[in-house]
Amino acid sequence: MSFRRLYPEQPDSFAFTPENLAWAKERIALYPQGRQASAVIPLLWRAQEQNGGWTTEPMIRYVADMLGMKHIRVLEIATFYTMFQLAPVGKKAHIQVCGTTPCMLRGAPDLIKVCRRKIAQKAHTLSDNGDFSWEEVECLGACANAPMIQIGEAVYEDLTPEDLEGIIDDIAAGRAPKAGPQNGRRSSEPLGGATTLTDESLFARGSDAEALIEAARSGKAAAGPRAEKADKTAARSAAAKAQGARSAKPEKKKRAEKTTAPAPRAEPVDEAARAAALAGLENIEEAAPKLYDTKPGQVDDLKMISGIGPKIEAILHDMGIWLFSQIASWGPAEIKWVDARLKFKGRIIREDWVAQADALAAGGREEYVKRFGKEPR
Ligand code: FES
Repeated sequence: MSFRRLYPEQPDSFAFTPENLAWAKERIALYPQGRQASAVIPLLWRAQEQNGGWTTEPMIRYVADMLGMKHIRVLEIATFYTMFQLAPVGKKAHIQVCGTTPCMLRGAPDLIKVCRRKIAQKAHTLSDNGDFSWEEVECLGACANAPMIQIGEAVYEDLTPEDLEGIIDDIAAGRAPKAGPQNGRRSSEPLGGATTLTDESLFARGSDAEALIEAARSGKAAAGPRAEKADKTAARSAAAKAQGARSAKPEKKKRAEKTTAPAPRAEPVDEAARAAALAGLENIEEAAPKLYDTKPGQVDDLKMISGIGPKIEAILHDMGIWLFSQIASWGPAEIKWVDARLKFKGRIIREDWVAQADALAAGGREEYVKRFGKEPR
């Protein structure tokens, strides 16, 4: 870290413009009474922006007075953080080159050579036309994309000396260079592309990833609003069909029954059994459902069941589950068997997979809409 001190030539005074003053008052008001000093960094930053990119001694006094702070405290802050420039900077850009170990090992010295050649031999010196200046700073927190520079709020990463020359030329010509990695990476994934989490659907709302996070939260998820909704739905169904419905009996654990023939059409779902499963899945002994050894000739799009995304569908396929009719035929014991392997802690019941699968098996999309009043996924 270089020694940072105020520039020898200072202006006489500083004051916020009316717009910035109004902004500063709003900012200060965000903090509790007696804690206004917390606004010091945003205020200093705004003041620096107003002043063409550098922080002056009158500015430090002005901000300190505004916040009821001792001048020395604001001076300490301004001289500690390299985001505050203590000398005039280039009108178009002040380039901060990270020179800490990862960036140094990945070529920061070559970037500094570019700055010396194109801007000024010495750091904190304006270029001949006053448009550029540069300095070497400590780690800027983008080490995985070393070497890198920062200009204002933008960072430029994975740089070669040629990239940096291009960035300087673009800014000089009034063009806005693309920020971020310059070597084709999107973030800090491997150069050849991501090797994990490559399924885009993982990052969509309502994705398997969200569901898996929910499952990982286990008990909490089961007590959430969705669980409550599932509880009420199942309870209503169970009450309506309670008369004459057979109760769910614990089933003996058995080995997975593998078959190569398509499963028969599912029987109507036993709502009472489902309600019982919802109420006490923990107390039911699990039993393997019918599974296929190999992919059957015709398969269903299991993703039409709300709650099953591409990842979960692939896992179900690996297990030998390909058809709506298979899922529709699950009782509490089979649900528990599958649930345990997916580590879902009751999600199959909460999301009503069996009822959804039953509708889809019975009459596809049309039947699903009829029963649920909405399109399947
Ligand atoms: S070492 Fe350069 S960003 Fe961290």
